[in-house]
This record gives sequence, C-alpha cells and structure tokens, in this order.
Amino acid sequence: MTRPFSPFKTIIEPFKIKAVEPIRMTTPEERKGILSQARYNMFNIHANDVLIDLLTDSGTAAMSSEQWAAMMRGDNAYAGSNSYYRFEAAVKDLTGYKHVIPTHQGRAAERILFSILGGTGKVIPNNTHFDTTRANVEVSGAKAIDLVIPEGKELRNRHPFKGNMDLLRLEEILKDAGSGQIPLCLMTITNNSGGGQPVSMQNIRETSAICKRYGVLFFLDACRFAENAYFIKLREAGFENSSPKEIAQEMFRLSDGCTMSAKKDGLVNIGGFLGMNDEDLAQQARNLLILTEGFPTYGGLAGRDLEAIAQGLNEVLDEQYLKYRIRSVEYLAEHLSAIGYPMIEPPGGHAVYIDARGLLPHIPPDQFPGQALCSAFYEFGGIRSVEVGNAMFGYCQDGKEIPSTMDLVRLAIPRRAYTQSHIDYVIEVAEQVYQFRDTLRGFRVIQQAPVLRHFTMEFERISD
Ligand SMILES: Cc1ncc(COP(=O)(O)O)c(C=O)c1O
Repeated sequence: MTRPFSPFKTIIEPFKIKAVEPIRMTTPEERKGILSQARYNMFNIHANDVLIDLLTDSGTAAMSSEQWAAMMRGDNAYAGSNSYYRFEAAVKDLTGYKHVIPTHQGRAAERILFSILGGTGKVIPNNTHFDTTRANVEVSGAKAIDLVIPEGKELRNRHPFKGNMDLLRLEEILKDAGSGQIPLCLMTITNNSGGGQPVSMQNIRETSAICKRYGVLFFLDACRFAENAYFIKLREAGFENSSPKEIAQEMFRLSDGCTMSAKKDGLVNIGGFLGMNDEDLAQQARNLLILTEGFPTYGGLAGRDLEAIAQGLNEVLDEQYLKYRIRSVEYLAEHLSAIGYPMIEPPGGHAVYIDARGLLPHIPPDQFPGQALCSAFYEFGGIRSVEVGNAMFGYCQDGKEIPSTMDLVRLAIPRRAYTQSHIDYVIEVAEQVYQFRDTLRGFRVIQQAPVLRHFTMEFERISD
C-alpha cells in the first residue's frame, strides 16, 4: 500500500515550547471591576489582568532558542561591534541595500527619514500611511497622502491584493507636482491601516517604475515584508515555486530603501532599521542618528538586540512558519465569520478586523461601538483587543463628536506566542459575545487628550 503524501489537514505550530509564562486566570466579576477602574480603555489594563492579549502583534513575538543563543553572543562595543556586522550582513543579504542604519524601532527610522526628505510644501504618497508614519511626515511640515486602490477601502471586497497602490492616481499626482515637491513615495507592506492587506509584486514593480520615471525615491515600509512575500507566493501567478526569501529579495530590489520596525517580521521585541542605496542620504541619516539614537553601529540598540534581529530575519522567511502564521489568522477569521461577525475580507496577515459598527447597529458611532465590543471581549473572556475606529480616528470639535468613517475592532495575533487552543478559546468567547450583542451598550467620553486621544481616553458606559 502506498502512503498518501501529507494526509493530515491540521497545520501544527512548527515549534515546541521551551519557556512558558503563566496566564493569571480571572473571573467575569473581577474583570468588570478592572474594566471600570481602567475607565474602559484597553491601554489602561495591566497585562497581568489579561488572559489572551491581542492588543498588538508589535514587539510581542516569542523569540526562538537560536535567537536567545545569539543574544549571548551580543558584543556591546560602542563602535564597530561584531554584532553590528552580523546584523548588517543579514539585512544586506535580504535587501541588497548599500547602507544599513539600526534604530531603536520603526518610528525612529521614520523620524530620521522625514527630517531629511520632508518639510513644508512637500508631499509624501503611500498606499496607506500607518499612524506613526503619517505623524512623522506631518511633524516635518509635509503632507501625507494615501493612494490605496478603491477595493482596499471596501470591507467585503475579496480582491487578493487590497493593499495595492492606485497607479493612475499616483501618476497624476507625480505629473502635477512641482519639481522636488515629492521627494519620496512609500509603500507599506503589508498595508496595516488597511487591514494587513498585501501588495502584489506587479504593483510594487509598476510603482517602482513610475517613481523612477519621475525621479522620485521609492521606499518600502517593510515591517511585515515576510507575510507580504508569502501572500505573493500564494496568490500571484508566477511565484508558486519561488521561496519566500527569493520573493522578499525581489521586493527589496525594486526599491531604493526601506524603514523597518523589526518588532513585527524581525521576530524581536525591540529594534528597527533604515536601509538605502543613496550614499548622500545615508550620510545625512547617520548624522541625525548620532544626535538622538546613538553611534551608527548600534543606533539605540544593545549588541544582543542586533543579534536577535539578524537571526529573526532569517527565521521569519521559513516557509513552514509562514504557512502556519497566515493560516492561524485565517482560521480565526473563518470561525468568527461562521458565527456571524462582519469583518474585513479576506483577512490580512497579522490580524482580524471586525466591523463593530455593522455588528452593533443599535450603538451609534458617537457612542463608540468598537469600544463596546472591546469591553465585551474583555469582560466575557479576558481578551484584550483594540478599537480602530471613532476613538482612534474620530475627534471632538466644539464639544461635538466628529466620528471616523469606520468602527473596527482589531484582534492582532502575536507571532509564535499563542497555540490553537488559545485561539479556540477566543472563538468560544466571541460566540458568547455574539449571542449577547443586543445587550451591549455604548460609551460616552469623560476625558480625552487633544492628539492621539485613544491611548489615554476615559469612558463611562451609557446605561438604558
Ligand atoms: C506599518 C507600520 N509602520 C510603522 C510602524 C511603527 O513601528 P514602531 O512601532 O516600531 O515604531 C508600525 C507599527 O505598528 C507599522 O505597523
């Protein structure tokens, strides 16, 4: 009898667990009190009071034994440490960039880049700017514009590459711009603010060609480059037989540089870098780096952090890891969808985004339906999620709420941190919340900051 090839449909976590961190169990009664004390803001809850923490996939990965071993090799020489050269070699092997500048995280790379290339009167296009990217562009005095394709804004449109740049609009804007007005065009892979949606190789290639034609630098915001590469392998004709590393190398080859938060696909808890080919730009970036981050061979990181990134960039491209990673997000999305949750479809690479406004039509946007759903997930099951809606993108003008266009709740999956039974528990909790959805109530704001209000906002529940 011939044995069937790979007959099992369960995709197991392609690792076993060597170190564990206990989860403190809490009861719904306890969590009610914790929520009220935190003024219903998920950022105010102590991590120790959370059972499953899906607040973010950033900096929350579990490191491998090889990464911990590499950290022991960390060389903390102020200048020219061995760890820097290992880190530089790993980044160059992946990206091919001539210059590699470490930073303490992604936004530090952004601040340096836009301090040089931004400024009043400048315009920076992107498929969609992440909030720190937009903030750093705007702080420089420049204008940030988002040019994702229209399908990327339709919640239930199942376009395979919803992160793609709208090439016609990009070309129009470049054609109309004054000389030097657009120094740089960015492409965020995957497109976090659009739901973690991928960008196709064809779109990266065409964006790169348009930028070249207009003499504009083309940079990737590469935080989730490996997840993007795997989506290309799964969904784009011609890449079925390429390895994720070959695909990633091609994406980087088409660009002039990148900003990178290694807290995502670097599989580390802190770190980032700026990569580029332009000699003069790199020199200016190093000069700014010294001012706030540190000497160019450590950039605000310890030698051990550089070692962990070098190893993480290698591990993240393992095909078995990426298969498990993308499938585990899809698994959660499939089950939530079967329960009846409306969401961004198809799911992206790092998170499931639930349409809270669609789920809770009895709670008007100015009463924060996303906030109501986050609170219910926490109260029912100790699950921490994050509101991506009116609290994050709406604002208050003359005492009146100006709501955002959508109210989403993001369940972001930390890398290698949770097993399938944790996710099955999340699904069970979601099932119960769904049954009680008509009983959930909205919130009113009792305190808020003028900018980035969602981090510190305080709420009270509106009762019947
Ligand atoms: C697309 C994108 N760009 C930039 C950043 C900023 O990176 P960091 O948090 O490391 O500063 C993030 C973080 O979530 C991100 O998702």
